[in-house]
Amino acid sequence: MGSKIFVFLFLLSYSISLFNLALGAQITYQGKWKLLKQSIGVSAMHMQLLPNEKVVIFDRTNSGHSNVTLMQGKCIKDEKSNDDCYAHSVEFDSVSRAFRPLTVLSDTWCSSGSLATDGTLVQSGGYRGGQFVVRYFKPCPNCDWKEDQKGLLRPRWYASNQALPDGKIIVVGGRFHFSYEFIPKTSVSDRRVYDLPFLKETTTSLDIPNNLYPFTHLSTDGNLFIFANDRAILLDYVNNKVIRNYPVMPGGVSRNYPSTGSSVLLPLKLSNTSFPPEAEVLICGGSAPDSYAKANVSNFVPASNSCGRLKITAASPEWEMEEMPLNRVMGDMVMLPTGDVIIINGAAKGSAGWEFAREPVQNPLLYRPDASTGGNNNNTRFEVLSPSGIPRMYHSTAILLSDGRVLVGGSNPYMNYNFTGLFPTDLSLEAFYPPYLSSGKRRPSIISVNPGSKFGYKQKISVEFKSSGNVNQGNVYVTMVAPSFATHSTSMNQRLLVLALNDGVTKTSSGNYLVEGYAPETPALAPPGYYQLFLVQDGVPSKATWVQINQ
Ligand SMILES: *[C@@H]1O[C@H](CO)[C@@H](O)[C@H](O)[C@H]1NC(C)=O
Ligand SMILES: *[C@@H]1O[C@H](CO)[C@@H](O)[C@H](O)[C@H]1NC(C)=O
Ligand SMILES: *[C@@H]1O[C@H](CO)[C@@H](O)[C@H](O)[C@H]1NC(C)=O
Ligand SMILES: *[C@@H]1O[C@H](CO)[C@@H](O)[C@H](O)[C@H]1NC(C)=O
Ligand SMILES: *[C@@H]1O[C@H](CO)[C@@H](O)[C@H](O)[C@H]1NC(C)=O
Repeated sequence: MGSKIFVFLFLLSYSISLFNLALGAQITYQGKWKLLKQSIGVSAMHMQLLPNEKVVIFDRTNSGHSNVTLMQGKCIKDEKSNDDCYAHSVEFDSVSRAFRPLTVLSDTWCSSGSLATDGTLVQSGGYRGGQFVVRYFKPCPNCDWKEDQKGLLRPRWYASNQALPDGKIIVVGGRFHFSYEFIPKTSVSDRRVYDLPFLKETTTSLDIPNNLYPFTHLSTDGNLFIFANDRAILLDYVNNKVIRNYPVMPGGVSRNYPSTGSSVLLPLKLSNTSFPPEAEVLICGGSAPDSYAKANVSNFVPASNSCGRLKITAASPEWEMEEMPLNRVMGDMVMLPTGDVIIINGAAKGSAGWEFAREPVQNPLLYRPDASTGGNNNNTRFEVLSPSGIPRMYHSTAILLSDGRVLVGGSNPYMNYNFTGLFPTDLSLEAFYPPYLSSGKRRPSIISVNPGSKFGYKQKISVEFKSSGNVNQGNVYVTMVAPSFATHSTSMNQRLLVLALNDGVTKTSSGNYLVEGYAPETPALAPPGYYQLFLVQDGVPSKATWVQINQ
């Protein structure tokens, strides 16, 4: 009898504590969400911000009807020569929130992109009729896509692009193609294909490669870091030589499509005392190599919660492994102007691919690269942020806007648009406001960049800004962010530079402040082209000023 009462009391107190736990679970998460558009008519499978604050968004051309028609009732012929009167691409104005349909002719499904030095989006590959195509989109009023049907020498489907120090773009890999090439093609060396056996060696199987959309980051010595599946190399792409093989990332997790994780090059801290600066890569999430095969028979295995950091310029680099508070496959990693990273979108189970994931992870994570990892329960690197109301599964994207918000869209795990499925096709755009935009935080604003928004390498530059807070040398820094091409959890060209500054902040006669610093020393640190320049004070970034760096 006594023991029954004891069990009863135990269960009672247990359920009370569960109840308290449930109440306690009303944590106030930092950051907030705002729906920008219920529908832009297409699902945002690919996104690129242009220097005029417009975002080029596109899907595929073979997904049937979208929810927006082409301009002025125009129709084009699809690949089966049927009339297609629907748009599969739109231009979204991130300031006014207006959008207009664009006309993309060839299939852009699972393609790649990069900005050219003049701010034109150069976009490559895709599926079937689109696989050899290079498309151009200039940032100008009422402009539309232009296509070069023979822009590539190999079909590039699920390839990755990186802007290079000479202004060219390298296109790496693609399904069934273990090679790379350069675009646009203007010289003899551009008109050949370079073999890259590493891409074959890291293929789990042709059906389930686990190495598509390889992660590519330009290292500070000008060579290309390429990560595929769980391995990485440093490639001298000019001489087609692998000059370093990095240690295998521990844990047996695959990190590329379809076991999709995500990767960033952590902030490059420029200073004129150590050159070139150290480069470090962070890769998070992904899933077991057989997660796709298992999802194919409705067994949705937990995604990975691990991240690895590798100093790719170190003499003997080793992976430093960490654990995220949430498991995630198909996450997107977005560099914030402060140098912190947002890990957003994706799911906790399954893999990328058609309807192959479950349990959307709607809370983004904040990752502070320089924060403590531990000791005394003091892991301040990760913070769980406010959840979105919308699952962002396969074919969703995220990019940084010039106002410091993160633009989030997409999600379509179906062949066609399907508004009744388990995770319906999503045509909306949302903005995520990182914690630095919460009310009460003082935000600095840039007045001017001198001698102007175009400058050369190593050039002395100064940034005049307005601030209502306390300004001193220790709490102010300047960053430059390369706008990335986002698709399939891969943010091509994403890069953040923390500029070298001289000592001292001066107060100008008009009551503003002035910091002086230096443009990046070489095009290997910052390939020529457009960057968003931010002034950060006490962890709060200004809005960006676009600058263009050139040889
Ligand atoms: C898209 O259009 C279909 C009809 O063709 C409609 O049923 C659906 O609700 C629309 N979706 C959105 C998000 O507007
Ligand atoms: C998925 O399952 C189908 C049978 O339902 C099979 O034909 C196909 O080969 C499987 N695909 C993979 C990649 O395992
Ligand atoms: C926790 O880490 C932060 C840096 O992220 C540090 O400033 C603080 O002193 C640490 N606290 C303890 C108790 O170790
Ligand atoms: C939408 O997807 C569900 C599976 O989640 C499927 O049963 C349904 O037939 C699909 N609808 C259309 C219109 O394709
Ligand atoms: C950086 O180098 C420039 C000359 O290139 C020099 O004038 C400046 O004082 C240096 N700044 C620092 C912080 O070392």
